Amino acid sequence: MLRNMEASLTARDRVGIQDFVLLDAYMSESAFLDNLRKRFHENLIYTYIGTLLVSVNPYKELNIYNKKQMDTYMGVNFFELPPHIYALADNVFRTMLSEFNNHFILISGESGAGKTEASKKILQFYAVSCPSTKLLNNVRDRLLLSNPVLEAFGNAKTLKNDNSSRFGKYMDIQFDHQGGAVGGHILSYLLEKSRVVHQNHGERNFHIFYQLVEGGEEELLRWLGLERNCQNYSYLVQGDCAKVSSINDKSDWRTVRGALSVIHFSESDIEDLFGIIASVLHLGNIKFEADVRGYASLNNDQEMHWVSKLLGIPTQVLKQGLTHRKIEAKTEEVLSPFSVDHAVYARDALAKAIYGRTFNWLVNKINESLVNTDFSRKTVIGLLDIYGFEVFYVNSFEQFCINYCNEKLQQLFIQLTLKSEQEEYEMEGIEWEPVPFFNNKIICDLVEEKHRGMISLLDEECLRPGEATDLTFLEKLEETIGGHPHFVTHKLADIKTRKTLDRGDFRLLHYAGEVTYCVVGFLDKNNDLLYRNGKEVISHTQHNSYITAIHSTSCFVRHVRCLRLPTLLKVMRQSKNAIIKHCFPSSEPDSKKRPETVVTQFKSSLVGLTEILMSKEPWYVRCIKPNDAKQPGRFDDVLVRHQVKYLGLMEHLRVRRAGFAYRRKYEIFLQRYKALCPDTWPHWKGTAAEGVRCLIQHLGYKPDEYKMGRTKIFIRHPRTLFATEDTFQVCKHRLATRIQAKYKGYRVKGHYLKQREAATKIETCWRGMLARKEREKRAWAVKVIKKFIKGFMTRNQPACVDNSEYLAYVRQNYLTRLRDTLPKTVLEKDSWLTPPPIMEELSQLLKKLYIRHMVRKYVGGITPQRKAELLLKAQASSIFKGKKESYALSVCRPFVDTRINAEDTSAKVLQMIRHEHIKYSVPVVKYDRNGFRPRLRQLIFTREAAYLVEEAKIKQRINYISLKGVSVSNLSDNFLILHVSCDDIKQKGDLVLQCDHLFEALTQLSLIANKQNCIKVVQGSVRFDIQPGREGFVDFKSGQESMVYRAKNGHLMVESTRTKSR
Ligand SMILES: Nc1ncnc2c1ncn2[C@@H]1O[C@H](COP(=O)(O)OP(=O)(O)O)[C@@H](O)[C@H]1O
Ligand SMILES: [Mg+2]
Repeated sequence: MLRNMEASLTARDRVGIQDFVLLDAYMSESAFLDNLRKRFHENLIYTYIGTLLVSVNPYKELNIYNKKQMDTYMGVNFFELPPHIYALADNVFRTMLSEFNNHFILISGESGAGKTEASKKILQFYAVSCPSTKLLNNVRDRLLLSNPVLEAFGNAKTLKNDNSSRFGKYMDIQFDHQGGAVGGHILSYLLEKSRVVHQNHGERNFHIFYQLVEGGEEELLRWLGLERNCQNYSYLVQGDCAKVSSINDKSDWRTVRGALSVIHFSESDIEDLFGIIASVLHLGNIKFEADVRGYASLNNDQEMHWVSKLLGIPTQVLKQGLTHRKIEAKTEEVLSPFSVDHAVYARDALAKAIYGRTFNWLVNKINESLVNTDFSRKTVIGLLDIYGFEVFYVNSFEQFCINYCNEKLQQLFIQLTLKSEQEEYEMEGIEWEPVPFFNNKIICDLVEEKHRGMISLLDEECLRPGEATDLTFLEKLEETIGGHPHFVTHKLADIKTRKTLDRGDFRLLHYAGEVTYCVVGFLDKNNDLLYRNGKEVISHTQHNSYITAIHSTSCFVRHVRCLRLPTLLKVMRQSKNAIIKHCFPSSEPDSKKRPETVVTQFKSSLVGLTEILMSKEPWYVRCIKPNDAKQPGRFDDVLVRHQVKYLGLMEHLRVRRAGFAYRRKYEIFLQRYKALCPDTWPHWKGTAAEGVRCLIQHLGYKPDEYKMGRTKIFIRHPRTLFATEDTFQVCKHRLATRIQAKYKGYRVKGHYLKQREAATKIETCWRGMLARKEREKRAWAVKVIKKFIKGFMTRNQPACVDNSEYLAYVRQNYLTRLRDTLPKTVLEKDSWLTPPPIMEELSQLLKKLYIRHMVRKYVGGITPQRKAELLLKAQASSIFKGKKESYALSVCRPFVDTRINAEDTSAKVLQMIRHEHIKYSVPVVKYDRNGFRPRLRQLIFTREAAYLVEEAKIKQRINYISLKGVSVSNLSDNFLILHVSCDDIKQKGDLVLQCDHLFEALTQLSLIANKQNCIKVVQGSVRFDIQPGREGFVDFKSGQESMVYRAKNGHLMVESTRTKSR
């Protein structure tokens, strides 16, 4: 959607411009039409001329009247959205609220152009947009529902519109301070009463008749004496189209019936009202026949009976009223009978009068229900839905009135628009330059001037005695206003024009174009027949017959004229129907007084309307009908051009454009176009006016192209604005890129700054935290150190607060250090960490525990074999420890089971001693008992005895029982002497042996032979038996080196080196 008026300038090629004021060729009708057509084909039915709204009937439902649209337009600046009837309605409403003044919206256009629809749209908009309360909702409902009722009674199907309003309507909506609708008032103008009795082909009577017949409840119809068939009523069938597909009379009836009760119609009101409607239908069916004298008489009493019943008038009186006329002679009344023509005429006149007056009553009744009971000051928006200019093939009195009305409204428009233009210029301090445009005041004067105007002349002709006819009226016109430039007749015209005029015609040059009127019927229609009294002319003048022949097509032409019917008025006054009684009051000026003619009444009502409107701010909606076929999408150029002309749109545009095409507040103008000048972009520091001046100087506006007002800039030609707009469009893209880049940069920078800030913050926090931690640590350290020192100083005192921690520390410290320095083996058991004084006791305990633990562990790890080994060692220890010098050195040499493997022992020997079980074998050196020569031998221990073996020979067997003892020296030599009991002869004597594994062999022996006590360590020398009874000696001493020799004394001398004792 286009964003706003200025923005839409961009799309003007496709959708045209939204405001005709911006049309460069504003004098050209074609340019105007082109724009309208372009928009129509884009379904853009609304276009502005300034604040005037032009609306083209789309003849199809457009999706632009929903609640969403209403919301969109609510409270939005007029030019900010595409043109819409809602924009106008909203603008009127806002202006009313803010300026607290009265407004009216004039909706005009030809029949079927969409006036009534437009007025309904406006009403609906107010119903939705106005603030509401329960009370206000009631008023709102009544305002909305008065519409279908008025339409039922005042609208009819015509050739131009299936729902054509046959009256002019002005409706006031009253608002309170807050803008709530609090009341309303309706004025109606010039109801087309003739429709009640006559309809052209293809047209209908007023909707209400058909609605009643089609939709009325059975009971109601019975009561009214009606049948459910329109064809039975002559007033309903003259157009020959009682049924229309676009109209649903039945459902409309229900709507109307419902509405009537909402707008305060009582049941008796409704009864009376439909009694009247029915009576009109019955009246239409009354037929007359000529009696023998040629006078009218009723041929059927049935219908008369119903009329009489429904209107509450005695049948006889009514009958007489329709067929006779009372003529007042000097003292008595004389009844004069009617001809059939007269009677028909009187009947129709009565029907029209009844309907017309009932319609007025209805309007008044609606007004009563809309009346605002709160008398505080309020403001008003008036809605004027009135017929536009009418030009038919034959134009009569009605067209004359209607077109006169339009002249008056145009005059009003000119006055108000020019006034407001002038006021705006004054307000803006701009010099007012008079501008040429056509002022239609001259035509208004022609019609309404006192004494000389056409209306005065018509009245005069109607009321003057003598043979006044339509033609005498025409003659009078020619006489009196013949020279007027806007008036011409057949007689007055030049030859060329004369061809286009008939004798009975006169032509008026209206502001919207020429209209030729046929004078026939003017007098007739101007007289309100029920009132007139006096001399009557029944015969047709010859002119009249002539003219009637010419214009026989005209529905308004009547053969009978100037029939006066005061008698019927009196008859009606007798009615018992409350509405009729009200409509025909006895206080009404009777025949003696001269009531106003129709045209004068109309003129006064227009004066009244003008007064009403003059005091208000005007707004305009001009409706245009795009084609005569009521078809969507069809734009008939000729038809539209015609309407553009007679709606005075070009006139309007001209007046609007008289001065300047475009004006906007400085702020708005600057805001949009400031990008076009480096000084005003992106920000202007000074006032908006100065900014605009700077801007347009930069753009090179010429002095006559614009004016600077107090708050607005005025631009004379649209092209100036368009050029600016186009420049703006070009510039916009460039700017957009720049703004985009700037914005991106700005965003990235913003992001970066944020990040940097965040980083700094985190850093600060982190540093702070570190510092705080450091400080805490230091404080803690100081405390700890202090405590430590204090603890240290008081460490020897009994446990107290000061030293408890220190002591705990000492304990812990000692324990941890102890853990790391624990002895690894049992042997290191003395390397125990020295405890601090306070741990002395504990340390002892721990040490004991630990050593036990280690011992247990060690002991647990000893194998039985090793145990045996150790037992051996222990045995050795108990025998030798501290006794023999070389023992200490031997401790570390492990003992083995044997020193000679079985295979190294002679098999023969083995064979011999096996049964004794060999336990241990070791190589030895045996010294001969005689001479002490050394010999290598094997010493084998069995369970029973010890054997000395030389190769395969057993040299000596010593039974353990005969082993007396074993001697070794205390020195470091390795000699041993086995002492054998000498009782046994077979024994060879004691053995002197040298064995490298002395300790091992002897320990084995002590175990195997169970002889631990027999081993003796001796000092000095050992005596031994060479043979029983022969003794020898071995002497031991220590010397420089180890040697064995035979000493001079015959002893064996064993010298050994000293070993250092460990
Ligand atoms: N804005 C609109 N949108 C759709 N249809 C419309 C619109 N205005 C008018 N019409 C159609 O045109 C017909 C005649 O409109 P109406 O307002 O009765 O004309 P007028 O009052 O001018 O004689 C309506 O019945 C409707 O079908
Ligand atoms: Mg209408």
